[in-house]
Amino acid sequence: MSEQKSFYVTTPIYYVNDAPHIGHAYTTIAGDVLTRWHRQRGESVWYLTGTDEHGQKVLNTATANNADPLSWCDRLVNDAWKPLWQQLNIANDDFIRTTEARHESRVQKFLTELKDAGYIYAGKFEGPYCVGCEEFKLPADLLEGKCKIHSKPVELLSEDNWFFKLSAFREQLLEHYRKNPNACQPESARNEVVSFLEGEVRDLSISRSTLSWGIPVPWDTKQVIYVWFDALLNYATAVGLGESKDFSKKWPADIHLVGKDILRFHAVIWPAMLMAAKLPVPNQVFAHGWLLVAGEKMSKSKLTGIAPSEITNHFGVDAFRYYFLRAIPFGSDGSFSWEDMSARYTSELANDFGNLASRTIAMLEKYFDGKIPEVANEPKLSGALQSTVKAADLAISSLDFQGAILQILDFCKLVNGYVTEKEPWKLAKQSDAANKKELGDVLYNTAEALRALAVLFNSVMPQTCQKLWRALGVEKTLGKLADQRISNVAKWGQIPAGTVTSKIEILFPKIEAEE
Ligand code: MSP
Repeated sequence: MSEQKSFYVTTPIYYVNDAPHIGHAYTTIAGDVLTRWHRQRGESVWYLTGTDEHGQKVLNTATANNADPLSWCDRLVNDAWKPLWQQLNIANDDFIRTTEARHESRVQKFLTELKDAGYIYAGKFEGPYCVGCEEFKLPADLLEGKCKIHSKPVELLSEDNWFFKLSAFREQLLEHYRKNPNACQPESARNEVVSFLEGEVRDLSISRSTLSWGIPVPWDTKQVIYVWFDALLNYATAVGLGESKDFSKKWPADIHLVGKDILRFHAVIWPAMLMAAKLPVPNQVFAHGWLLVAGEKMSKSKLTGIAPSEITNHFGVDAFRYYFLRAIPFGSDGSFSWEDMSARYTSELANDFGNLASRTIAMLEKYFDGKIPEVANEPKLSGALQSTVKAADLAISSLDFQGAILQILDFCKLVNGYVTEKEPWKLAKQSDAANKKELGDVLYNTAEALRALAVLFNSVMPQTCQKLWRALGVEKTLGKLADQRISNVAKWGQIPAGTVTSKIEILFPKIEAEE
């Protein structure tokens, strides 16, 4: 029996010209939440991230720092990028660097195949180039001679290069997006790509003769392969393109997550490259929006980059993972504000979720010696949970992280309302059996709701949910938190009576206000 194809998710590979900022973390966290959720659906998942190490931009930064480019990349990868993903609990299965031999050799092989198939020809490139974007620009991309994204003057290149016959794939690409509206999302991104393809599509220069930091063109080693042509291939080289018989167990990618600034590379150039090689194209390219500062894309080059540690030191890793997906619809731009983050931290995380957990565990301890009472049911809660799970799962399928989180949060609020209405602390004051039974039912139901919340919030806040899972004492009977299935979470009455709970540390400690 052939093994199931993995659900394959990628992030862009990041330029190592500098340390990561929260815009980079945003994409990688989204990918992590998505893959964790799919794992909890019981699917086999493969999550790839990595670094884009060639090209003018990385070379210029290395040179400015008196370093040779490879040692510069090594340093940034090992001291900044990989540690950040670890700190943010990113569960990627692989990390690809474009300077690795497995990548370089497969890129060269791919390019040779395209040349043999007649899609590569020699030509002369003359025109503007933005080093920030690493992109050959059209006059419409510029404003007063500057790149619209980087607000920096472009270079004027005039080189003999190798070209890829991108124009030959215009019709096929249009057909692809007409037939598969899901192949590029959200809708606004798909419209942008389709209208680009409806205009004039030019062939693409795919080599540079005035730069040596890159993968040599195999038949013309005075030239290196254009950094984007090299970089896009990472998604396929990392899973064994051209070499591994397992390639088709991962390829095609299910979702390429990208920022909207790099949509065209992913939704036009990349599928055209694959079509030329007669390989399947990705199932979906999803373009998310930008984190803005003063209305512009946050960026290191404009000195507006916020380091993730500035936020995690203050609010913790899980609140950081939560905040951006909760506050900004995935696909739209959004601004970061300390006030908004602080307000949501307090009301949604500390009050709605954290307090519910501490109150419940404390009451179980106080009134039942830390032993879960008899199994009970509350149709209002269990019914609501069923629709929550359905709606959240559907939202994740369309990468609507905000929608999924809101569903779970609504359920959390409903449970809080239930506790407030039942007033278990009052029931505890009455000594008759009926009240004792009702108190047990209320706390059983609340514990069950917390079990479900731990499972549902796990992909967004894995550390916090693990603390809750441990406090509920269910690992022995129900198994590991990460192994809990989304399809099973709404089944009410899973925690066995008599399960021993343990003390819970405060999940979202009070934040001291800063100057
Ligand atoms: N190296 C290329 C990608 C090659 S993929 C084959 C690149 N690297 S990048 O480091 O400049 O950007 C990587 C990703 O980070 C892009 O998706 C970009 O949109 C995203 N972001 C960079 N700044 C961002 C914000 N301010 N907000 C949200 N995402 C941001 O492009």
